[in-house]
Amino acid sequence: MSKEYILVEQSLKLHGEAQLVGAKNAVLVIMASLLLTDGKSILKNVPNSQDVASMIELLEMLGAEIVFDKETHILTVDTNTINDYKVPSHIMKKMRASVLVMGPLLARFGKAQVAVPGGCVIGTRPIDYHLKNFEKMGVTITTAGEFVSAQVSKKLKSNKLILEYPSVGATENIIMAATLAEGKTKIINAALEPEVLDLIAVLKKMGAQITILPAATIEIEGVSSLNVVQHEVINDRLEAGALLLASAITGGQIYLPHAPAWAMDLFLVKLEQMGHKIEVGPDETGITLKATKFPNAVSFKTGPYPGFPTDLQAPMMVAQSVAEGEATIEETVFENRLLHVRELQKMGAQINVENNKAIVKGVDRLYGASVIATDIRASCALVLAGLVAEGQTTMSGVHHFKRGYDCLDKKLAHLGASIKLKVGSDF
Ligand code: UD1
Repeated sequence: MSKEYILVEQSLKLHGEAQLVGAKNAVLVIMASLLLTDGKSILKNVPNSQDVASMIELLEMLGAEIVFDKETHILTVDTNTINDYKVPSHIMKKMRASVLVMGPLLARFGKAQVAVPGGCVIGTRPIDYHLKNFEKMGVTITTAGEFVSAQVSKKLKSNKLILEYPSVGATENIIMAATLAEGKTKIINAALEPEVLDLIAVLKKMGAQITILPAATIEIEGVSSLNVVQHEVINDRLEAGALLLASAITGGQIYLPHAPAWAMDLFLVKLEQMGHKIEVGPDETGITLKATKFPNAVSFKTGPYPGFPTDLQAPMMVAQSVAEGEATIEETVFENRLLHVRELQKMGAQINVENNKAIVKGVDRLYGASVIATDIRASCALVLAGLVAEGQTTMSGVHHFKRGYDCLDKKLAHLGASIKLKVGSDF
């Protein structure tokens, strides 16, 4: 059977300018939020990635009429024809973000049914925070086999909801549910990732009443209905991070005119600590990186925003693998997000794992190898590693890469990388 793989060859000094697309983690939840409205909405800057295709498939199965112009990145979604509230298991298993339709479906139709979610293999990733808090809003949850059904007899009730951990998905699901609930809902210890803020911007344009208060609290005053919306999705800070790292590790120079520097503070500080020169444009938008020839290793620990993003942990580990000195990388968000280490070791990286910590000793060079991507961000890391590895690297598990990125391979090639998406069984 023919298989897709990515072939990367050592590529030095990636150089030039690159444009970004909209953030995957913002667009998926914003697409789900359109279920709160009744009519035609337009989203701009939508990435053409596999997860977006899966969310389109999901909304279409619920009855939405959708047109996606992949050239202009404009997505039109008509929710007037929604006639179902069940998310089939094959979609749920493809993409964990499918769970994000629960909040809007409950708010608009009083019921939702989802299968146990799938997605990347990065820990058990339960949905208990979502379900427990829906229950506190008056929802009855029942499970049968792999399905979770949620139902509310009248309107959703407001409540004071305290998250044990600032979960991005749970915060988003509860906010969406609360927009049409009775009274004022408070979420304490809410996630405030830039993608959550983009969702809030969309919901406010629809007419939702949402206030962010100090100490990570989000207050939502329910309204009776919401309007259709037009919105341009924020640029992807994770794609920006990948491109900056590609240039940094190859000793190059890059300009990302639309990069959301305002959402990337700690990541940029870490690049500077490595010795790279960073310049940020006006209004904290746009980033230029000029790589140092002799990068130092820097330690970091992932955490909820504004901490170091877990989604850049694997790509940043590649930079530490070829830096001078030793770095300790601690993953605190997901319990099983160091699977890329084994693949980087195959390429000659000196990494030891102790529980959730990776101790990385910088080496002079990596070597090309056959590697397997196990999740979206690992796929990005392995492509980056291939750029600085002597010889050829072939990466399988390309579907993970396609889930999260729109043409990142082509953008890297445009900057001078030798990278090709191939189909065949000869690797
Ligand atoms: C989102 C992002 C993902 C990112 C993550 C953390 C999308 C589509 N995905 O994922 O790229 O890596 O935020 O920034 O936006 N947890 C529970 N119970 C729950 C929910 C979460 O225990 O009900 C745990 C998870 O297992 C994990 C931690 O909380 O250990 C954080 O997860 P969460 O913030 O919810 O991540 P996602 O929303 O799934």
